Amino acid sequence: VNYKEPYRPQFHFSPAKNWINDPAGLVHHNGKYHMYFQYNPGGIEWGNMSWGHATSDDLTHWEEQPIALLARGYPDSASEMFFTGSAVADVHNTSGFAVEDKTPLVAIYTSSYPIAQTLPSGKKVKEEQQSQSIAYSLDDGMTWTTYDAGNPVIHNPPAPFENQYKNFRDPFVFWHDQSRKWVLVTALAEIHKLVLWTSDNLKDWKAESEFGPFNAVGGVWECPNLFPLPVDDDQSKMKWIMVVGLNPGGPPGTVGSGTQFFIGSFNGTTFVPDDDSVYPGNQTSNWMDWGPDYYAAASYNGLNDADRTVIGWVNNWQYATAIPAAPWHGAMAAPRHLSLKTINHKTTLIQQVHKNLRVIESNGSITSSWKTFAEEKKDLGSVGKTLDIELEFSSSDANEFGIVLQATSDWKQKTRIGYNFVSKEIFVDRTESGDITFDKTFASVYHAPLTPNSHGIVRLRILVDWSSVEVFGGEGEATLTAQIFASRNATFAQLFSNGGSTKNVELGIHKVSSIWN
Ligand code: FRU
Repeated sequence: VNYKEPYRPQFHFSPAKNWINDPAGLVHHNGKYHMYFQYNPGGIEWGNMSWGHATSDDLTHWEEQPIALLARGYPDSASEMFFTGSAVADVHNTSGFAVEDKTPLVAIYTSSYPIAQTLPSGKKVKEEQQSQSIAYSLDDGMTWTTYDAGNPVIHNPPAPFENQYKNFRDPFVFWHDQSRKWVLVTALAEIHKLVLWTSDNLKDWKAESEFGPFNAVGGVWECPNLFPLPVDDDQSKMKWIMVVGLNPGGPPGTVGSGTQFFIGSFNGTTFVPDDDSVYPGNQTSNWMDWGPDYYAAASYNGLNDADRTVIGWVNNWQYATAIPAAPWHGAMAAPRHLSLKTINHKTTLIQQVHKNLRVIESNGSITSSWKTFAEEKKDLGSVGKTLDIELEFSSSDANEFGIVLQATSDWKQKTRIGYNFVSKEIFVDRTESGDITFDKTFASVYHAPLTPNSHGIVRLRILVDWSSVEVFGGEGEATLTAQIFASRNATFAQLFSNGGSTKNVELGIHKVSSIWN
């Protein structure tokens, strides 16, 4: 494995080989960022679900580590798989897992049992049951011991939802300082409900409340996350964000999975969404990302509220298996910093590229500006395939302004990213982006609403890697992530202004170096 295979992400995490999906157990501990993830040790398709592991000092360079939790029974047929979950540093040793002074890391994950069995704890589980279990690490997250004496620690969904035991998953845990308790959110996937639990010791859990269904309920609800964010940088004004994955039923114009969120309040037991965060009729939603390829977003434990950071999986269950990626299969999105900002009187989720990405950007960048961009097209030449682009402009009489990226020199292959001044939307057009044949829904155009700022300026920041584009619009109030699979020589770029001119164009293209050298 040399990390130079066709389409291999150069500055996004992907495993050396094999399938990955959801990030899990994101925890910052002793100066290290840990990322665990759904991993199949045996192939490039979903199966044998285990927790893979990678670590980073800066959220930019990743080092893949040995498997943290290996599917029980692997390589024969698994009797327990380790589905998505979360992790915390139990600094006060509430769990009692500490030995001497060593702080235990505790992970809580979904045990997925393909077969009915009696577990070492004496508990009995049914065929296809999903329950919540814990494991701990006394060597800072490198090796893990499952709590066999007690697992699963949450055996069944609470009354009256016991019949949902096959779709009960994805525990997200965090320490709630105000109530001095651990709080956990789990999904009852089929009925679009989340259950909130509390605990003193990470072992005994009490069901406290439910949330949902609200907004988008097109498919199952999975991978919940709950965390606080200060509003307008004011630590005395905190709101809470509930993130929920949906599969299928993602944003308008996409097929397959997507990620929504709610803004609200949380008192230690119950999450209440703000009135302007829920819409009647379960039709619309707050989309965390308007593209087809941002799923199972999970946030870090162990950072300050002002440093809230999330990582999503750049894929879509619609075609996750079919993407032309081998010997690895799946990648993570660039880490995003989250905040809340009041824009037009509305509390708005702001997502920005984590500042550490700058660490791997070259100093020599291409910059250009045009008071009036009157040309229909302006070739930028061969700019490369790993880029961080900043583009801003304001409306004149064009309908569309934007940039063509990852184009071949004959422009037959290209990805168009831009802004439609009429519909006030960012768009990513991957209909001619390269290999589009592996799924019939893949060749599409995606849209995200974005209002120009109070000075009439539209700002786009675009991360481009060998198989993805991530667009951050405005201050980060709209994002759009899409996979693309262009040829190795698709390095050309071009600006376009369609139907007229565009004003005050400022372009900066920074080259991003590979993290695998
Ligand atoms: C979401 C998901 C989770 C589950 C995991 C299994 O992508 O379906 O709900 O825990 O993947 O790999």
